[in-house]
Amino acid sequence: MTPHNRVLIAGCGGMLGKAFYQKSIEKYGLENVRATDIDLNEPWLSKLDVRSIQEYEQVFIEWKPTIVFHLAALTDLEYCEKNIENAWATNALGAENAAVLSKKHNALLVYISTAGIFGGEKDEYTDFDTPNPLSYYAKSKYYGEQFIEKYLSDYYIFRAGWMMGGGKEKDKKFINKIYKQIKSGSKELFVVDDKLGTPTYTVDFADSILKVIDSGYYGLYNQVCEGSCSRYDVAVEFISLLGLSDSIKVTRVNSDYFKNEYFAPRPASEKLLNTKLTLRGINHMRNWKVCLSEYSQEFKNEL
Ligand SMILES: NC(=O)c1ccc[n+]([C@@H]2O[C@H](COP(=O)([O-])OP(=O)(O)OC[C@H]3O[C@@H](n4cnc5c(N)ncnc54)[C@H](OP(=O)(O)O)[C@@H]3O)[C@@H](O)[C@H]2O)c1
Repeated sequence: MTPHNRVLIAGCGGMLGKAFYQKSIEKYGLENVRATDIDLNEPWLSKLDVRSIQEYEQVFIEWKPTIVFHLAALTDLEYCEKNIENAWATNALGAENAAVLSKKHNALLVYISTAGIFGGEKDEYTDFDTPNPLSYYAKSKYYGEQFIEKYLSDYYIFRAGWMMGGGKEKDKKFINKIYKQIKSGSKELFVVDDKLGTPTYTVDFADSILKVIDSGYYGLYNQVCEGSCSRYDVAVEFISLLGLSDSIKVTRVNSDYFKNEYFAPRPASEKLLNTKLTLRGINHMRNWKVCLSEYSQEFKNEL
């Protein structure tokens, strides 16, 4: 394998991509990083639709990457339930394309997967537990893991939990959804307390990946923030960090409350433990409350 100094990031226009691009140019240098996405929402992005193996290979031929970070995915679970073929094409075939081309062009592949591949039968999951994906999003992401594991000998797979990051512009997930409700004047927030997970700060996640891949300990890793919680716990913590605990009420509800809006099946628990990283002495992830405290600064000034 050649030294990893020429970097291709696919799907870099999203919430993780923002942190990943920043950390990658710090590590490898601006001139060695090519960031791509289907959605060109930054001047530093160029076009790559990972569903097309021809388009993906053209970038391999032109850029000659020695390492490929495959972030690209459709991450809206409800969209995936309604657009199953596109979920397979993007999340499963996109990952397959990345693996086939990485092998053909002798690049190291780093694939991002999700805690959502577990079925919720257990309270928490180590890297050694067997996935049981419930939604089409989870099934298509898990397919990517399985293909890469069978097809490549040297690879990295990192599973993230509930992603936090990207700020007001790019965060499509829970923190920004709560922020938008506050911003629009809501004084009472209804938040589920029957879904458990492990928040994952994009800044820590990207930073840790770039450290772990230097270890040469290839394979699959759970990589989430330390600690775990319910969605309700995250909302309460976020409101407190914003200094709004006295003016905004957070009311517990169960998932039925949102069953029409969030109809994709979700596990009751998708809590991950960074068991392998910890055993190998390369767990660099901080506690989720420390990370949320840092992240909340991006929202605090706007309220
Ligand atoms: N968000 C989470 O909570 C979470 C949790 C665990 C794991 N992950 C994984 O982390 C990775 C990064 O996701 P993220 O959190 O940064 O979500 P994101 O903000 O949705 O970023 C994913 C990016 O991929 C792009 N994309 C979609 N289809 C594509 C295609 N055919 N070709 C190229 N790019 C395409 C998206 O564009 P559009 O915006 O136009 O769709 C988006 O810019 C994904 O692999 C995801 O499965 C995410």
